[in-house]
Formats: sequence, structure tokens, C-alpha cells
Amino acid sequence: MELIIRPTSADVAVTAADVLAEHVRRGATLGLATGSTPVATYQELIRRYDAGELSFALCRAFLLDEYVGLPRDHEQSYYRTIRREFTEHIDIPDARVQSPDGTDPNPTAAADRYETAIVEAGGIDIQLLGVGTNGHIGFNEPGSSLASHTRLKTLHPQTVADNARFFDSADEVPIHVLTQGLGTIRNARHLLLLATGEGKADAVRRLVEGPVAAFCPASVLQLHEFATVIVDEAAASDLQYKEYYRFAETKKPQWQGWGGWNLA
Ligand code: F6R
Repeated sequence: MELIIRPTSADVAVTAADVLAEHVRRGATLGLATGSTPVATYQELIRRYDAGELSFALCRAFLLDEYVGLPRDHEQSYYRTIRREFTEHIDIPDARVQSPDGTDPNPTAAADRYETAIVEAGGIDIQLLGVGTNGHIGFNEPGSSLASHTRLKTLHPQTVADNARFFDSADEVPIHVLTQGLGTIRNARHLLLLATGEGKADAVRRLVEGPVAAFCPASVLQLHEFATVIVDEAAASDLQYKEYYRFAETKKPQWQGWGGWNLA
């Protein structure tokens, strides 16, 4: 696992955009996350697009997850959120931005269709991830199978409470979701997890330095041969090997570029 510590959340966004831009230039299939963490990264990518530095015209995108039961045009559906925050502002064709269909009366069939769509597209080149305070990635809550695929899940009350800030009240947060599984996420060729703020420090410590365990779903990154974790100082504050990660970053073989730094 490659761990990069940046001074602030703004610096995390710039470094994350650097990593993503390498893939975008190759017309990659992007795995996109919602939530607040990647918003600054999306803004940085939009800025580079506006400046004529980057085109997404050859890319396609798959979202990580979606609420069950929210209409697609609901402002908090992830279908709408990713368009509002990111893809409406760049040149990726809208039809090439896909998400699980949380409106399907048969969620299991919708989950299976989504998994198949990812495989038929040739898989995901780079999967962007945030992490929940309880260690979830996507909506794979603690206890999720490390081999799971896209499926229906029930949110933990902590996640409902965390996400209530996007709704008028906690009662409005759907408790069921469709999410890529941990096995689906592991199939992506490059994983890029971002975490900022002190509230994520414990989850970051457990995912980077804790045991691989279904109880901390993000620890599945330890099983991936090409995972990059970018955190700010606050999110890094509980890491035992912080100084080693800083040292290792200064010794990277810079001539290879992203993709050649996979020394783990
Ligand atoms: C979002 C997602 C979630 C979030 C996580 C962190 O698509 O899958 O796993 O990444 O809940 O959310 P924020 O970034 O809002 O702290």
C-alpha cells in the first residue's frame, strides 16, 4: 500500500487529481465515490478541464453505490449528486456515467445487472474511495464479506447519522442501499482512497495498520497489489508508522510515474 500524507485537505485534493489525471489521459474507466471527501478533488479536476489541461471524452464512469428508493432526480440520490458535483461540468458523455438502479423494485436483479455491466465494460481502471468513520468503503458496513459483489445492504445507524447532514432529517435517509461489494472493489486495477480530518484518524489507522478483517471493510485494501491512500495530517494523526511513510515517499523512484510506484 502506498501511503501519502499531505499537510491539508486541499493538498490531498491536488495530489488525488494528479493520480486521477494520469488515468483520465488514457481514457480510463473511472470508479467514482460520492460523499464530501472527494468533492475538492472533483473541483480540482473540473478546474483542469476548464483550463484545457484534461479531457474526459474517452472515459466512462461507474459509481460505487446508490440509495434504494430515492427517485433518480432526488437531489441526494447518488445519480444526481455525481452529476451536480462533477460530471455535468466536464466532457464525459452522460450515458457513460452509470450507477446501480436504486429504483428497481427488484434490487437484487439491479445489483446483478450492475456487476455485469462493470465486467462487460472491461472492469474499472481506478476506483476512488472515501472511508466511513466505522471503516466502511462503498456501503460495505462492518461484517461485509471481503469477497462480496454488488448487492443490497442495510446501513448501520452510524452511517445513517453521518449522512443525515445531507438530508433535512435523519428520518429521510434511506436505510437500504445497493453497493459494489468488497470483491467488486478489489477487482479494480488501482484503488485510491482519500481521508481528511481528525474524525477519520481511527478508521485510517485501522485500515492501514490494523488486521485485515471484515469488521473494518477498508482493510481489504491491504489485499490489493496497487492501492494508494492519500490523507491529510489530521487523518494521519493516529498512524504508528507515520514517519516511515513520509520517509518512503521522499525515496520514491520518481522517474516511473504513477503505476510504477507500486513497490509494496
Ligand atoms: C460514498 C461512499 C461512502 C463514503 C464514506 C465517507 O459513495 O461510498 O463510503 O465514501 O461514507 O463519506 P464522506 O466522504 O462524506 O466522509
